[in-house]
Amino acid sequence: MSLIKHHAKIETNVLLLTVGILLTVIAGGLVEIVPLFTIKSTIERVEGVRPYSPLELAGRNIYLREGCYNCHSQMIRPFRDEVERYGHYSLAAESIYDHPFQWGSKRTGPDLARVGGKYSDEWHARHLIDPRSVVAESIMPGYPHLARRDLAFDDAADHLKTLRVVGVPYSDAQIAQAGEHLAAQADPWGDHDALTEAYPGAKVGDFDGDPERLTEMDALIAYLQVLGTMVDFSDFDPARAGALR
Ligand code: HEC
Repeated sequence: MSLIKHHAKIETNVLLLTVGILLTVIAGGLVEIVPLFTIKSTIERVEGVRPYSPLELAGRNIYLREGCYNCHSQMIRPFRDEVERYGHYSLAAESIYDHPFQWGSKRTGPDLARVGGKYSDEWHARHLIDPRSVVAESIMPGYPHLARRDLAFDDAADHLKTLRVVGVPYSDAQIAQAGEHLAAQADPWGDHDALTEAYPGAKVGDFDGDPERLTEMDALIAYLQVLGTMVDFSDFDPARAGALR
């Protein structure tokens, strides 16, 4: 009863109400913001995680543009049913270069955090053009326009530069050679040494089945094929992975 009386006092006094709101916001803010300052020590250090190559990044941008995240999450939770279905649970470090991250919460389709290497490029191309041609009962929409559209990513270097501002460690050389790396990754007959030196483990080839053209499909498949493949889990020991410093 007395609480209700106080409540009325606060609600009818502008100054008291303002102070009350401020105190509440400050308390809530501290609880949310302070832990962020210790984030470096809460993300485990793991070998192998590298920034996306320009082609993978272009594919990621298409993934966002097409709204794939509306149906697909990219975070395997550390529960037995998920780990048995999708593989090792996701580590925070695996999305350290994702801006914005694609963890998601909606799974109309399966989680894609480790879809890289699960299917051939050809499977992905067919699946994206017409999902029902490979998975009869699929309710995923087709994206045949991706195979028709030439990839427009002349400003790859600017994308890398922008990501560097938010902490992705692209080097000056990687930014300067963004265009060459982009072309090399989708050219099955090209010289790939510079690319794989800058982006270890980058998968090269003709992703969409049309070696003559560089399409949006090439980029999206290059992105799908790298998902979850950067960390070698055959020798990953969570107890040994130290904190990032
Ligand atoms: C309306 C929801 C929906 C949207 C939007 C959607 N998907 Fe799917 N996706 C599904 C469903 C359902 C499945 C499972 C059936 C199948 O394999 O087609 C699936 C399966 C997949 C698979 C195979 C996963 C596996 O492990 O077997 C990939 C890869 C995939 N989607 C990629 C994409 C990409 C890339 C986009 C955006 C261009 C996209 N999806 C958009 C619903 C969706």
